Amino acid sequence: MPNQLTIAIAGATGAVGREMLTCLEKRRFPHARLRLFASARSAGTALPFAGCELTVEALTADALAGIDIALFSAGSSITRDLAPAAARHNCVIIDNSSAFRMDPSVPLVVPEVNPAALVAPTNKVLSVKWSAQPVPAIVANPNCSTIILLMALTPLRTAFGIERAVVSTYQAASGAGAKGMDELEEQTRADLRGERPAPKVFHEPYAFNLFSHNTAIDPLTGLNVEETKVILETRKIWGEESLPPAQRAAITATCIRVPVRRAHAESVNITLRREATARQVREALAAFPGVQVVDDRDTNNFPTPLKASGKDEVLVGRIRPDASLLAPDELARLARDRGGLDDIPCRGFDLFICGDQLLKGAALNAVQIAELLIK
Ligand SMILES: NC(=O)c1ccc[n+]([C@@H]2O[C@H](COP(=O)([O-])OP(=O)(O)OC[C@H]3O[C@@H](n4cnc5c(N)ncnc54)[C@H](OP(=O)(O)O)[C@@H]3O)[C@@H](O)[C@H]2O)c1
Repeated sequence: MPNQLTIAIAGATGAVGREMLTCLEKRRFPHARLRLFASARSAGTALPFAGCELTVEALTADALAGIDIALFSAGSSITRDLAPAAARHNCVIIDNSSAFRMDPSVPLVVPEVNPAALVAPTNKVLSVKWSAQPVPAIVANPNCSTIILLMALTPLRTAFGIERAVVSTYQAASGAGAKGMDELEEQTRADLRGERPAPKVFHEPYAFNLFSHNTAIDPLTGLNVEETKVILETRKIWGEESLPPAQRAAITATCIRVPVRRAHAESVNITLRREATARQVREALAAFPGVQVVDDRDTNNFPTPLKASGKDEVLVGRIRPDASLLAPDELARLARDRGGLDDIPCRGFDLFICGDQLLKGAALNAVQIAELLIK
């Protein structure tokens, strides 16, 4: 039956859409037909897929007829506009935008973290010919920074509990789509010629600069939209929404754009609920599917955006006890006593994480959700 599916990408010409094409091809996603959609501007464009060329069509409500699963990455307003038509046509949406992420009837899923959310009862379901069970009408892909963070924190939460996490992100230009990447490249070239063109996509010059994330700040919380997403989406994915505050992971975030083309980095300070050693933290991370530990202190080999670019795995390194809990002289003394840094029990740790936000943070996660749905 999966081989008879008609699937679609809405936003196929965009930064995420193009990666979806690659993921579907690389993972040999079963289907009979793949249709590509974008705005009317791109209608007629040919995109390569599995050795042939597919023609992009203009996305309309009627175009969704006959499609079984549509991977949407065309922005929130388009998902909101087309969701009712998709439901009428029995077309399941897997959406990369933030339109429905916090809707209680829409599962928000990272397949390695909360696959059960896909089968939890929800009042927005479709009865489709390709599944014996009703399937969710819409499944939301979390924010890219959230996915990358939770790939690293979830195994630690499972093994030791997480009381608190302080997150600082270093986010790539392509997180703002193809136009974000273009602005970084154009401004860098212009800067090297001694020119300073006015920013168009971002609110600050991007070449040789970094700045607070380009989303609006809520005057009531002081958090920008990206920071708020990391905090609230984590709570939903971990199923902590109805828990009293003391039982939830307390999370705060500072989100920053850096002049990197692709892959987000995150520095995270965590407080565990139970003591662990760096060795145990590293082992829990290494055993989690989709995580690769890159943590060699001797050679200074740690995650970087370039190492993470084009990779399905989220890279984690710089795993070390929090030196604000065990001061460096105390840490050094304990390390000498125990023959190294990795066997000191502690509740606080620092980590550095890098993940390709176009892949695991968007396209790959969406395709993995589709794979789970058709299983
Ligand atoms: N970039 C990331 O790292 C990332 C990560 C996670 C989630 N997301 C989310 O994924 C979505 C897409 O992001 P992106 O970075 O791929 O953006 P992008 O590069 O700007 O691409 C946007 C896509 O949407 C299409 N589109 C725009 N207006 C349309 C319309 N009226 N009708 C149909 N299609 C339309 C564009 O088609 P044309 O080429 O014809 O304009 C293009 O294919 C956004 O909701 C974003 O927040 C992005």
